[in-house]
Amino acid sequence: MTTINEIAPDIYRINTFIPEANLGFSQFLVRDDEPLLFHTGMRALFPLVRDAVATLIDPATLRWIGFSHFEADECGSLNEWQAIAPRATAVCSMVAKLVSVDDFASANPAKGMNDGEEFSTGKHNFKYLVTPHVPHNWEAGLLFDTTAGVLFSSDILHQNGDVAALTSDSVTGQVRQAMLEMQASPLADYLPYTPKTDATLKRVAALKPATVASMHGSIYAGEGEKAILEYAEVLKEVFGGNN
Ligand SMILES: [Fe+2]
Ligand SMILES: [Fe+2]
Repeated sequence: MTTINEIAPDIYRINTFIPEANLGFSQFLVRDDEPLLFHTGMRALFPLVRDAVATLIDPATLRWIGFSHFEADECGSLNEWQAIAPRATAVCSMVAKLVSVDDFASANPAKGMNDGEEFSTGKHNFKYLVTPHVPHNWEAGLLFDTTAGVLFSSDILHQNGDVAALTSDSVTGQVRQAMLEMQASPLADYLPYTPKTDATLKRVAALKPATVASMHGSIYAGEGEKAILEYAEVLKEVFGGNN
């Protein structure tokens, strides 16, 4: 079942829980003059996501499609979106644009973002952070809504299970549990831990987001800086050693 929750003014979480994977997948619609969708979800989810978006805006007016990295749950239905929304343009890192996205979805060349670059969709202003290999993949980046204080964090704060849309309770315990479950599954070594991981996560934490909007699990509203610093400790513990 696909659910829609408003997690901040005019920012909507569209979530589909997949029981077989014990995992939810969220996309975020920012309803603004130039509507922005962060994450498209996999192609298999496209009809569900499109229908959910259609309850909030005319899908044909979608202007921006943001995501962190090139992976099916992040941007798998980019082409399907560009087929129904003629102006829909990817917003991603310059590396993502040059290496994968413009080849994968050639209808509209992506807006390749540099580190710290800002752009506006009308009322909402965004800052793009280039974060190679955080949460994972070379081309990774993160989008921060500086107007609403919402960090679209992709796989950062990933929690498993069918959980509440929004919480103000710490999710660190659930994140640690999810990472341990991943390590014990065929999806082991999900995230890299490199000599730069901690410094990159400290840069992300310094944004001091009021809301951390993860793709998987509950959206955390509260001390975003603390949550991300705790996340960095979990990554070091789970992926930084020899286990
Ligand atoms: Fe990912
Ligand atoms: Fe993901």
